[in-house]
Amino acid sequence: MRIDVDNLSFGYDYRTVLKNVSFSIESGDFLVIVGQNGSGKSTLVKCLLGINKVPDSKIFLNGIEINDFSNWIQIGYVPQKFDDFNYEFPITVNEILNVTKLTKADEDEKLEIMDNLGILTLQNENINTLSGGQMQRVFIARALMNHPTLLILDEPTVGVDQDNTDRFYRVVNDLNDQGVTIMLISHDLNSSKANFSHAMWLDNGEATLKNISEVALGGEE
Ligand SMILES: Nc1ncnc2c1ncn2[C@@H]1O[C@H](COP(=O)(O)OP(=O)(O)O)[C@@H](O)[C@H]1O
Ligand SMILES: [Mg+2]
Repeated sequence: MRIDVDNLSFGYDYRTVLKNVSFSIESGDFLVIVGQNGSGKSTLVKCLLGINKVPDSKIFLNGIEINDFSNWIQIGYVPQKFDDFNYEFPITVNEILNVTKLTKADEDEKLEIMDNLGILTLQNENINTLSGGQMQRVFIARALMNHPTLLILDEPTVGVDQDNTDRFYRVVNDLNDQGVTIMLISHDLNSSKANFSHAMWLDNGEATLKNISEVALGGEE
């Protein structure tokens, strides 16, 4: 999915978080967004998802003005953390993954996705007993089952051990090879195994986009 952001400013109450952010990514790009805590990374993706309401003519998804956009099912989104996440009643991982009739994956594909993410053995676990990292992978699986053309992952490997982090990046890199546009918020560009095409720095609400060749030359972290 192509994304165009044109001079977007956004704030909560009186505080401006994003300042005149402009960038474009093409369908099939792999963008990593980096920046310190509080720099506005999650705020930016929530603008792109329509969770934060923005004025007209600032954001276009596949050329469609975001306030007119309706095909949200093609966007997979895994939010930042599930620490405070709690189901009131016992529900298993399988039930979460089977719950939506909108899903495009059949049972075999579901199992393959779970296996790739290292959560196959969790199928019958109660969701409330999972660690934050396991929970995050369940929601990544759910996002993938809808065959997204854009996948937005907000700090997806926080609390995930090294093996599973590596496994996660293999899955994401494969998806990108298959043409899925990826937007990944990461704390640490250096240690990430993402095969990204572009990196964007958010600093105090201001965005700088570079492609991978400029990143390597600039030697920035
Ligand atoms: N819902 C909200 N209401 C008010 N302020 C918020 C809200 N969400 C985030 N903020 C503030 O906006 C700034 C950017 O937050 P965020 O986008 O979460 O940064 P990051 O993801 O880069 O750590 C922070 O100062 C944060 O406290
Ligand atoms: Mg964040």
